[in-house]
Amino acid sequence: MEFFAVKKIKHLKYKQMKKITNICCIGAGYVGGPTMAVIAEKCPHIKVTVVDMNEKRIADWNDANLDKLPIYEPGLKEVVEVARNRNLFFSTDVDDAIRNAEIIFISVNTPTKTYGVGKGMAADLKFVELCARQIAKVAENDKIIVEKSTIPVRTASAIHTILKATGKDVDFQVLSNPEFLAEGTAVSDLHNPDRILIGGSQDEKGLEAIECLVGVYNNWVPRDRIITTNVWSSELSKLTANAFLAQRVSSINAISALCEKTGANVEEVANAIGRDSRIGAKFLKSSVGFGGSCFQKDILNLVYLCNYFNLPDVAEYWMQVVKMNDYQKHRFAKNIINTLFNTVSGKKITFLGWAFKKDTNDTRETAAMYVADELLQDKAEIHVYDPKVSEEQIYADLEYLQTHRVGHFVEQGDVMELSEIKKLVKVHKNPYDATKNAHAIAILTEWNEFKAYDWENIYKNMLKPAFLFDGRNITDKNNLNEIGFEIYHIGKA
Ligand code: UDX
Ligand code: UDX
Repeated sequence: MEFFAVKKIKHLKYKQMKKITNICCIGAGYVGGPTMAVIAEKCPHIKVTVVDMNEKRIADWNDANLDKLPIYEPGLKEVVEVARNRNLFFSTDVDDAIRNAEIIFISVNTPTKTYGVGKGMAADLKFVELCARQIAKVAENDKIIVEKSTIPVRTASAIHTILKATGKDVDFQVLSNPEFLAEGTAVSDLHNPDRILIGGSQDEKGLEAIECLVGVYNNWVPRDRIITTNVWSSELSKLTANAFLAQRVSSINAISALCEKTGANVEEVANAIGRDSRIGAKFLKSSVGFGGSCFQKDILNLVYLCNYFNLPDVAEYWMQVVKMNDYQKHRFAKNIINTLFNTVSGKKITFLGWAFKKDTNDTRETAAMYVADELLQDKAEIHVYDPKVSEEQIYADLEYLQTHRVGHFVEQGDVMELSEIKKLVKVHKNPYDATKNAHAIAILTEWNEFKAYDWENIYKNMLKPAFLFDGRNITDKNNLNEIGFEIYHIGKA
């Protein structure tokens, strides 16, 4: 009886709950931009303002030419076209957006710390903290704060502590709502998510806040796909999901090395094991190594957390996933050098692809830059073609890496000045120019267009023997062999 009474009270409370009409998001990046665009598209009754301290980024989001949006994602420009200046706004006026919003998403970047305590392992929360302080300063009425950024477990309570210290008579509820979209498929992932996860405190106000956010997503996501938990389960689930996904890639990559020695074919092995419904077919694609802003960072975060709580065996278990990934990138670079008669000095190696996966212009932690760096240490001349990554980005990645080399198989090597990098690395707008007179081609990203190239023509214009190292196994090995290429695929003898 009592149980029903409680249920009824909650139900009534949620029924009377304030309808959300104004949302803001701090951080107009790969997560904040697309996520808010889809919320605005699906909830025309909600005004959505995305703010960012980077003026150029906001100007790009507001560019009349939708091909100039700062982020490339299939389907994104169509969504922005529908909602922008209807109920979706991009602005640099952070205070105004905070003041007017009922729900504030924090979607700023949380890179691995490069200094001080936890250097190279822990997430740097300085941007999240800045956001919390800004909200505390500006807010004049109750707010729901939503952590979208991937953050270490227990960040919500840190944010709450900052917010509580304002001395104002304002209630702040902090929710964790991790984003599971993958780049390259962000818009379809947002339209049709496997699940939405919302964590909040389990008291009355916390549950009310959770229901407010459920109400927003429920405009297009069925209620049974929206999971609600306590805040720490939600935070830890994000790290765990990425650790599991990355672990599958490292596991199949470990097997790829064994395949090359034994004569097994990693694709056949992946297919055979993936057909077991308990294992499943996804995330079993052997590659030159995973990249992206999340996998490595989140595992390092998990490892840091385990060590912090004195669980060194658990930490070591997950660390191995990152080590295996470093090994795979290194193995690929070393194989290129060994195959080209133990030196690539002065040789032209063409990289097809630079992004960390296809259908994105994001290059964070891309395997391409680590492979390039290793070849540059051996004085290779690298020519790059990527359909979506700009020349400036490629140079910026390589320059950054000079002073931030981390990894278990990475030799520190010489630090190259940008001018030196520019002498050795050329970026092309056309794949046929990029591959002309090359000693070897290395495929680093699985862009679809690479499969459709005129490979006979490319072969004709290369130096012989013409080597091709396919780090994504997207080319037809037999066909290319017939053309004359000396071809290496991952995990195939
Ligand atoms: C997201 C998540 O937030 C991150 O935790 C996750 O690990 C990766 O995905 P993402 O959207 O990819 O980050 O980051 P990014 O594209 O760098 O965008 C963050 C934006 O926040 C930038 O545009 C930056 O200018 C902005 N920012 C950062 C602010 O507006 N204010 C700040 O204080 C810090
Ligand atoms: C990942 C998670 O998938 C997503 O849920 C989370 O929100 C953010 O982190 P993302 O990094 O954008 O998304 O892309 P993902 O498709 O997971 O790929 C990550 C890396 O793993 C890429 O470099 C990709 O090429 C590589 N990968 C993926 C493989 O090498 N093999 C595979 O089978 C799958």
